[in-house]
This record gives sequence, structure tokens and C-alpha cells, in this order.
Amino acid sequence: MFNSYEELSAYSAELVAGVVRQKEDAVLGLATGSSPMGLYEELIKLYDDGNLDFSKVKSINLDEYVGLDGTHNQSYRYFMDLNLFNHINIDKNNTHVPDGVAEDLQKGAEEYDELIDSMGGIDVQILGIGPNGHIGFNEPAEQLNLNTHVADLTQETIKANARFFASESDVPTQAVTMGMGPIMKAKKVILIASGENKAWAVKSLTDDVITTLIPATLLKLHSDVTVLLDRGAASQLDEK
Ligand code: F6R
Repeated sequence: MFNSYEELSAYSAELVAGVVRQKEDAVLGLATGSSPMGLYEELIKLYDDGNLDFSKVKSINLDEYVGLDGTHNQSYRYFMDLNLFNHINIDKNNTHVPDGVAEDLQKGAEEYDELIDSMGGIDVQILGIGPNGHIGFNEPAEQLNLNTHVADLTQETIKANARFFASESDVPTQAVTMGMGPIMKAKKVILIASGENKAWAVKSLTDDVITTLIPATLLKLHSDVTVLLDRGAASQLDEK
């Protein structure tokens, strides 16, 4: 647990940097949203200071809204370019975000899984967590998908993400998301949670239960997960 989001972010960047320094062509699984913003700022600093080289790094993002192309300022491709890729020496051809406007979304999803396989899987997967425990856009459900698929966003997620749009009705209702398979197969997972609205979901990571109704709980089965919390996100955990 970190006293501030800034400290958390600096630490997360050192973890990611460690992976890249060990393997110059590492595959980074990336997330969008508020949680990894500080991580991306810190990675840019490391690059600016000459301490990190992304020239051989490859990236694969978790998800993209259906209906938004990469030029839309709320698309996740736009987010990644704006907040990370435009500021480091990564080859954009090596960066991948699902296509939210593919004519055939299902085919696009299958190709995304083939792409992940062809990259040899993910070396380190960055995750945020939804207030409802979603990871990627694998939303709480009786069953979860292994593979990339088109997901209906829950009302709670639409509400949570409305802050980025002019109004709630502008939030897309579907997304193309990586399934649980590549996330669980990633060699290393770093989950970042910041703020009290994540406290309930974070608490669910500490009990004895695994349930598809809180998808992040499946991470308890992964052998290398680092969960980074600020005070707000840790606020429902018992002091030990
Ligand atoms: C984003 C993603 C989502 C977010 C989650 C938390 O690519 O896959 O699972 O990580 O909704 O969002 P923030 O960080 O904005 O609170």
C-alpha cells in the first residue's frame, strides 16, 4: 500500500522497466483509464532521462469501445497515443489495440487472439479494476470468456466511464475486450487500484472466494500478481 498515487505510480514504472530491461522486446499488456495514467507518466520520464528504451518493445491493449475509431478522442487507441506512445520511442507498428469499428467484430476478435499468440503471449499485463471487479471489460457474469470478444458493458461501468464523455448516453454500450485467457497466461500481472470507489473490489481480492461474479478474483489463481493500492483503494482492508 502506498501513501500516494504518485508513489504507487513510480513503483509500478520500476516494475515495468525491470521487465523491459531484462527483455528488450518484451510484450506489454496495457490498460487505459485513470489507473495507469501515473505509470505512463513515469515511463515517459524514464525514457526522457535515457533510462529506458522502447525501440523493440511490443504492446497489446486490453480493450476498445465498439463504434469508436482511433481518431475519436475517447477511443482507447487515441488514449494510448496521447498518454504514452507519442512520447516514447516505441514503434507504433508494434502497438496493438482492438479494432472497435471492424466490419466483422467477431473476426477481428479472433485475429486479435491469433496476434497475441503470435507475439508469444504477454510478459507483463497492466490492469485497472472496475468498481464491480471487472478486468479489461470482462464484466461480472455467470460465465466469463477465455478469448477476445464483444462485451456488453454493465450499467455500472457505463456510469463509471461517463466522466470521460459529454453525457452518459454518449458512452458506448459495448467494447471489444481481451478475454480472461491471455490475462491469466501473462507471465506477470500488475493491478493498479486507486481511490475509495475501488475499495470493495479490492477487498474481494483478499478473501477465500473465487467467482466469475467478481472477475478480478480469478487472479488469485495466478502465480505472479502484484496489486498496488493507494490509501483509498485499501480503505476496506483490515489493518494487520
Ligand atoms: C481499461 C480497462 C478497464 C479499467 C477499469 C478501471 O482498459 O480495461 O478494466 O482498467 O475500468 O478504470 P479506471 O482506471 O479509469 O478507474
